[in-house]
Amino acid sequence: MDDMTQKKKLIAGNWKMNGSLQANAALLQALRDGLGEAACTVAVAVPAPYLAQVQGLVAGSAVALAAQDVSQHESGAFTGEVSAAMLRDFGTRYVLVGHSERRQYHGETDAVVAAKAQRALAAGITPIVCVGETLAEREAGQTEAVVKRQLAAVVQANGQCVSEIVVAYEPVWAIGTGRTATPEQAQQVHAVLRAQLAAATARADRVPLLYGGSMNAANAAQLLAQPDIDGGLVGGASLKAADFLQIIAAAHAIQAQAATELGAEKA
Ligand code: PGA
Repeated sequence: MDDMTQKKKLIAGNWKMNGSLQANAALLQALRDGLGEAACTVAVAVPAPYLAQVQGLVAGSAVALAAQDVSQHESGAFTGEVSAAMLRDFGTRYVLVGHSERRQYHGETDAVVAAKAQRALAAGITPIVCVGETLAEREAGQTEAVVKRQLAAVVQANGQCVSEIVVAYEPVWAIGTGRTATPEQAQQVHAVLRAQLAAATARADRVPLLYGGSMNAANAAQLLAQPDIDGGLVGGASLKAADFLQIIAAAHAIQAQAATELGAEKA
């Protein structure tokens, strides 16, 4: 197998500010029961107070723990913030940085997002760097410029380490709206991001590029079949075990098919 085919699809759920002790236990139980031999990587990004609970609930399963945000600071007088070291204490493998809701409602700039990615990497946690344009930016023909600017800040701050990140392209107009980017629209942006990464690192092919924005059981297969779409960042549909499992199954099927085709080529 070459490097490309070894890369597993990654399906990450973003619970946002949802959940309760009881609901989390039920959701994780249903996920564990339904997962079986999923060939793809699965993660759930949970609200910070539930990290300890979910760490326990996913133990011994194929589900990885993710957080939704991390402080740009290492430690100290930053009331309300959660550091990368704290996330690591709970076995966190991934952390979202620069989600559009953080950029929009909490004023996170490209520089802050880049610093957060740096903190995560330094703590051994993989940052899932979210980029994406608003509807106004798309309509003004600025999509490419916006996502490139957002990713450039992270590349600049992290140098060669950028090969260790995950990037999620999430058009803001598609988040929580039921309006998904077409597979062609998403692939087009993913190809731009891949080329930008290739200019920064020789290992750009290994960086998982996720699509996010109203991904659901019905549209996942088509999106995940695109050559530069390596997985999904799933909000609403990750709160329903049946829907999330269907998205995982779609990723699994695409990956299994790719492995079969590669086997046939080599035979
Ligand atoms: P959505 O959210 O799937 O509900 O559109 C995706 C996200 O915000 O990560």
